[in-house]
Amino acid sequence: MLADKDRIFTNVYGFQPWNIGAAEARGDWDATNKLMEIGQDAIIDRVKASGLRGRGGAGFPTGVKWGFMPKEPKPDRPNFLVINADESEPGSCKDREIIRHDPHKLIEGALIAGFAMRARAAYIYIRGEYIREAEVLFAAIAEAYDRGYLGKNACGSGYDFDVFAHRGAGAYICGEETAMLESLEGKKGQPRLKPPFPAGAGLYGCPTTVNNVESIAVVPTILRRGPEWFSSFGRENNKGTKLFQISGHVEKPCVVEEAMSISFRELIETHCGGIRGGWDNLLAVIPGGSSVPLVPAAQIIDCPMDFDGLKELGSGLGTAAIIVMDKSTDIVRAISRLSYFYKHESCGQCTPCREGTGWMWRVMERMRTGDADIAEIDTLYEVTKQVEGHTICALGDAAAWPIQGLIRHFRPEMERRIVARRGGDVSPMQEAAE
Ligand code: NAI
Ligand code: SF4
Repeated sequence: MLADKDRIFTNVYGFQPWNIGAAEARGDWDATNKLMEIGQDAIIDRVKASGLRGRGGAGFPTGVKWGFMPKEPKPDRPNFLVINADESEPGSCKDREIIRHDPHKLIEGALIAGFAMRARAAYIYIRGEYIREAEVLFAAIAEAYDRGYLGKNACGSGYDFDVFAHRGAGAYICGEETAMLESLEGKKGQPRLKPPFPAGAGLYGCPTTVNNVESIAVVPTILRRGPEWFSSFGRENNKGTKLFQISGHVEKPCVVEEAMSISFRELIETHCGGIRGGWDNLLAVIPGGSSVPLVPAAQIIDCPMDFDGLKELGSGLGTAAIIVMDKSTDIVRAISRLSYFYKHESCGQCTPCREGTGWMWRVMERMRTGDADIAEIDTLYEVTKQVEGHTICALGDAAAWPIQGLIRHFRPEMERRIVARRGGDVSPMQEAAE
């Protein structure tokens, strides 16, 4: 179990106030200019050495991403930092805790990260539904300006840096980094084709880095305590501490900071009071937010909760939003509900996603009720493969993977309900196939 002294987010439950006085007492904004004095490249090198990988889901190495930014921005083409606080992945609720209880970790991180990548300003894009969190964020930014921590000569560092907060309007797709840039520019939030990546052409066509809230909020502590301290947690390639969000059928759902690579069993036993009804009652887990395939109980119990451990199981760490399902779950219905979500949130820009998400949801609904044909399970799988990798953004993959996971691990249950619906008879298509 991670020791209290090694927790970055010491106020994640809001036991203390979020305001700047309380944040300073917790160590935030302590000689920030000294952290910046080591220079921009040294900061990037330390973040690289820490092993920090992006906490928004994809796990791209954070320091490497910063290194893509031009070192000598042109006056008419400034560098920008955009912070993705559009946390909309079903199951994900960690950035919300940071913003409402520890916003100064994020704002101080924005200054340091922005300085390191020679950015002129940071835009924090916060999801529209986070109303109270947005109020805190706006107020915390104002506090930082009042103290001279932001704006001209930020923190007495000699560097000018602004932070703006921007509220979204409830579209999941605006969490996709290029749709977010479109939205910030005042346009309809639809993903752009990549490449070019934002580091080449981002906000207003200028070099831009898009980072998740947690990725930025851990940076001041990494610099204060040293990259070796951060990389002392977790396995090779999976370093640091991480906010895990555990929801569903555990005794005590929670958001908790733990060392990367902790086993699923230890995480649940230590922080969640175990599985509802005991370990024998566990059916399956979606370990990384709804976009990653589910993992059946037997496979996940001793799995290290990190990028590589979950990849080996054909799933992913994603945002570490862990959705636990016990044997009371109608697993086909649960995945069908996710299919509806992706159909609803598709921006409609590319055909495989626009048409495929609706088609997959309609077939999933017939799978749920048992009104499908057994042979359609293979057709459904084939369609997910036609959607996966053939769309502009990752939403197409995110819609395909949960269904693939269901078919991979719960095909007998899908077949069982189709057969039961027909009163035990196999279907005409099934007979023809046999
Ligand atoms: P991605 O793998 O395409 O990109 C990750 C990051 O690395 C991006 O910032 C991208 O610009 C950068 N990048 C990748 N290759 C690059 C290159 N060659 N040169 C320069 N930069 C490069 O993943 P994406 O689409 O940004 O995110 C998908 C993930 O988002 C999923 O794994 C999912 O778990 C997560 N997600 C999180 C949500 C949330 O609420 N936090 C919501 C929905 C999805
Ligand atoms: Fe829009 Fe879906 Fe295409 Fe992404 S994959 S650009 S959400 S239609």
